[in-house]
Amino acid sequence: MSFNNLDQLYRSVIMDHYKNPRNKGSLETDAVTIDMNNPTCGDRIHLTLKVNDGVVEDAKFDGEGCSISMSSASMMTQIIKGKKVEEALELADIFSKMMMGEEYSDKYDLEDVEALQGVSQFPARIKCATLAWKAMEKGVKE
Ligand code: FES
Repeated sequence: MSFNNLDQLYRSVIMDHYKNPRNKGSLETDAVTIDMNNPTCGDRIHLTLKVNDGVVEDAKFDGEGCSISMSSASMMTQIIKGKKVEEALELADIFSKMMMGEEYSDKYDLEDVEALQGVSQFPARIKCATLAWKAMEKGVKE
């Protein structure tokens, strides 16, 4: 696949998550709740997580933001569901490295998250992409 086609594919994966967010909403019972915002633009995320026996059993998010922040939240909830807390934290670390343009472990299949790789070339958007992941890290540590 040529670079342009890959770019196009990644763009359409991002837009699909933005227009059809996975795990949108809020968990009502026994959920850890985290609210965070991006002070530079006012975008916000409301994340609820159900963690049981060290496993992230469920995750939902709500909020407002740009396509990068909302698609990243959608992808993040999708990939961490069913993962152990330490795996979710490892994924957050891998994602952070990806955003910084650093080498990262290939231990996990990153699924749709791969589509956000290109964000590392736009420093102003990195905070958009990492908002949901920071909320998740805070939530699972609680
Ligand atoms: Fe606000 Fe992207 S512009 S999170």
